[in-house]
Amino acid sequence: KRVAILISGGGSNMLALVRDMGQGGHAEPVLVASNDPAAGGLAKAAALGIPTAAADHRAFPSREAFEAALSERIEAVRPDILCLAGFMRILTPGFVRRYDGRMLNIHPSLLPKYPGLHTHARALAAGDTEAGCTVHEVTADLDAGPILGQARVPILPGDTQETLAARVLTQEHRLYPAVLRRFAAGDRTPVLLP
Ligand code: GRF
Repeated sequence: KRVAILISGGGSNMLALVRDMGQGGHAEPVLVASNDPAAGGLAKAAALGIPTAAADHRAFPSREAFEAALSERIEAVRPDILCLAGFMRILTPGFVRRYDGRMLNIHPSLLPKYPGLHTHARALAAGDTEAGCTVHEVTADLDAGPILGQARVPILPGDTQETLAARVLTQEHRLYPAVLRRFAAGDRTPVLLP
């Protein structure tokens, strides 16, 4: 399976996916693309010999125009699967429809709790005793597609959003590769990590 990965920042989830594809042989990374030409993950992908692309969303007059530019680069590598990994742009229904059933996202909360931003601060503010991350299929509704995997972590006394984010991020790097392995094999059974 050919996998294109979309990032906006450092790309730690992208690196975890790329590393696991190299070990598992279940899929191959054919592109790492970003909405930010300065995204640190682009240099990391290039250093690994993975083709990269960037379309600066601020340089386009509309969301649709930005997505058209991004789609052109994505379609050129003929991906079977799209993985959003720390990708921070909301995609229009038109873009989502094009990849319906083959686009995944990782979100740093136990969906359906805390869709959207600032998930760790919200869990702490709510006094939750556990948090985690979710991999789901991307649909037109933000952070609401079928769940393909979840990993749970405890919230500990004294946790800040930084300490909690770090604990969740470690699990993201375990969960996303495990979900991609199943998804690439056509298996949509959710991966549930303790
Ligand atoms: C992290 O906060 C992670 O929880 C979320 O996106 C952010 C950046 O991830 N998925 P990455 O290091 O760019 O993969």
